[in-house]
Amino acid sequence: MSKSTMDQDLLKVLFSEEQIKARVQELGDELFERFKDSNPLFVGVLKGCFLFMADLIRACQIKSEIEFIAVSSYGNDYTSSGNVQITRDLQHDITGRDLIVVEDILDSGNTLYFLTQYFKAKGARSVTIVTLLDKPARREKPITADLVGFETPDEFVVGYGLDFKQQYRNVPYIGVMRPELYQ
Ligand code: IMP
Ligand code: MG
Repeated sequence: MSKSTMDQDLLKVLFSEEQIKARVQELGDELFERFKDSNPLFVGVLKGCFLFMADLIRACQIKSEIEFIAVSSYGNDYTSSGNVQITRDLQHDITGRDLIVVEDILDSGNTLYFLTQYFKAKGARSVTIVTLLDKPARREKPITADLVGFETPDEFVVGYGLDFKQQYRNVPYIGVMRPELYQ
């Protein structure tokens, strides 16, 4: 393990690299069974999805395509708001496509509630939500993921793509931020 000053900002490891790798493979296997005959389109929600998406699509060897969408929600540094806006839109037509939406964490649900409606309005045939982490305690919108990597307690987490003020995304495991750093 390389030395990291970022480790000191984290209270504890919640999910290790090994745990993440094993769980991502299970999710990939499940997606393979569900989508092996339907040429799905993976849609990653930037930026938090980028490592999870990269590992998930390699854990799921099916003919498929990838796309990305980016949103902002005008919350503060560690929560989102109901006012979700697209900052980088899809580049291709999704009419009639089976979408696998890949998100880092389902928290209030504002982001995925908005995106699910958006993708359906754009003509997607189906929308399957895969989220690495799920914090059900904080849900504000009626939305559930189809596949969840890990259920997570109501603590602010970073690493493996997840950020605090755009940092810590390259921490290879998922850890809990020291609350004094963001409260
Ligand atoms: P939602 O719209 O509240 O469901 O939040 C989704 C987005 O909020 C995620 O894509 C993350 O970018 C961010 N988020 C929520 N909780 C956390 C966390 O614990 N750590 C890092 N980002 C988070
Ligand atoms: Mg994010």
